[in-house]
Amino acid sequence: MSTRDFHFPPAFAWGAATAAYQIEGSPLADGAGPSIWHRFSHTPGRMTNGDNGDVACDHYRRAAGDVGLMQELGLNAYRFSISWSRVLPAGTGRVNQGGLDFYRRLVDELRAKNIRPMATLYHWDLPAALDDRGGWLNRDVADWFAEYASVMFKALDDGVEWWATLNEPWVVTDGGYLHGALAPGHRNLFEAPIASHNLLRAHGRSVQAYRAEGKHVIGIVVNLEPKSPATDSDDDRVATQRADAYMNRQYLDPVFRGAYPDEMRDLFGEAWPDFPASDFDDIRAKVDFVGINYYKRGVVQASQKVVERADNIHIASSVYTETDWEVHAPGLTTILTWFRDRYGAMPLYITENGAAFYDPPAAISDPVEDPLRVHYLREHVAAMQRAIESGVDIRGYFVWSLFDNLEWSLGYTKRFGIIHVDFATQKRTFKRSALTYRDIIRNAM
Ligand code: FCB
Repeated sequence: MSTRDFHFPPAFAWGAATAAYQIEGSPLADGAGPSIWHRFSHTPGRMTNGDNGDVACDHYRRAAGDVGLMQELGLNAYRFSISWSRVLPAGTGRVNQGGLDFYRRLVDELRAKNIRPMATLYHWDLPAALDDRGGWLNRDVADWFAEYASVMFKALDDGVEWWATLNEPWVVTDGGYLHGALAPGHRNLFEAPIASHNLLRAHGRSVQAYRAEGKHVIGIVVNLEPKSPATDSDDDRVATQRADAYMNRQYLDPVFRGAYPDEMRDLFGEAWPDFPASDFDDIRAKVDFVGINYYKRGVVQASQKVVERADNIHIASSVYTETDWEVHAPGLTTILTWFRDRYGAMPLYITENGAAFYDPPAAISDPVEDPLRVHYLREHVAAMQRAIESGVDIRGYFVWSLFDNLEWSLGYTKRFGIIHVDFATQKRTFKRSALTYRDIIRNAM
C-alpha cells in the first residue's frame, strides 16, 4: 500500500523523537546538576567503549541548526525530553534559569518553524541528588516529580502542545532496578516492583498537577510488544501470558483499570508487595493520550529465568537489526488494535519506532544509503495505516530517531538516526530514510 492512496487524519503529527541525555551533550553546562546517566556513564565498565554523553550530538549548542534540519525534512512535530537536573540541579528546590532558558529557546525555535513540540518530562535521567535520596525507591519521588513537572508546566505550557510524563517505565525498572544494564544499575528483585509503583504514582501526581495548571494535553509513553508463544505447549502459553503482563499490562492496567495484572504476583513471588489501595486514586488520573513505542514483537518460550520466566526466541526467516531486534511490522498493527480493544478508544501516538542498522560511512555518499531502514520505515507506516483503517484513533507518528545518538549503555555503536552524525566532527548528513520520510509526509498532507 502506498501512502499516496491514503488520507491521514487532519493535523496528523509527523515527527521524530530524541531524548536529552542521548543528544544534548554539555550535561553540566550553565549550572546543571549531574543525572544518574552522567554518573553511570562515568563509571568504569558500564558503557560499551567507555562512551558517555559529555558531547553526544552537541545538540545543546546546536539546537537552532538542528531545528532547521527538521524543517528541511518537513516535520510538523518533534518529541524531545527535558533533563530534570538541568532545571532543578538538586532535583527539588532551586530552579536553574540557565537550564530553563535552553528549553525555552528550543520551544520558541520549533514554534517559529511550525513544528509542534511534544515534551517528555522523564526519559531516564533522574537527578543524581535524588538517587542519593533513594531515587525511584523513595515514595517521596512522587512529590519531587510533581514539583519538577509544575515548574515545567508554568515555564513552557504556552508553547508545548503535548506533555508526556514518563518514557517507558518498564525499561526504567527492568533495566535500572532488575537487570542493571541501565542507570542506576541495580539488580534487585525486591526493588523492581517498588520502583514501578513509584513511577506510576509520580506519573499520576504530575497529571493531577497539570489539570490545575495546563491548557494542552498530557499522557504517558509505554513500550509495547505483542507476545506470542513459540509453540502451543501449555508452558509456552503460560510464559507468554506472563511476558505480556510484565511488559504490556503492568503499567497500563493500573492507569486505566486501577489494578495490577494478577500475573505480577506469580512473576515476583514474595518480592511483590501489597500496595496501599489509595495509591491507585493518583495512578488512575485521567490521561489525554497514550504514546506507544514499538520496535518488535516477542516470541516466547518458557524458561527458568527469574521474573519473565520466558525467552524471546529467534525466527530463522526474519531480519534482525543491529540491536538484535526482529523486524516485524505487522506487530505494530496488532499492538495498536490490542490497545484499543483492551483499554478503549483514545488518542494514540506512535511516539517511537525505528531501527539500528549498519550504515556505510557518510563520506561515501550523500545522502547515506540505508535501504534496510527505508524499508523498515515504509513497512511500519503502512502497518500504522492498517490500524487507522480498522478504526484506531492514531494522531501521529514519531520516528526514532532524528539523529544517530548515544544508545544508552551501548554507547555510539548503534545508529538509529535518519540523520547520520559524524561524532568526530558533528557533521550531520541526511540518510536516504530521511528523504523517504520527507516524501511520505509530503504525500500524506
Ligand atoms: C527506546 C528508548 C529510546 C531509544 C530506543 C532505541 O527504548 O526509549 O531512548 O534508546 O529504545
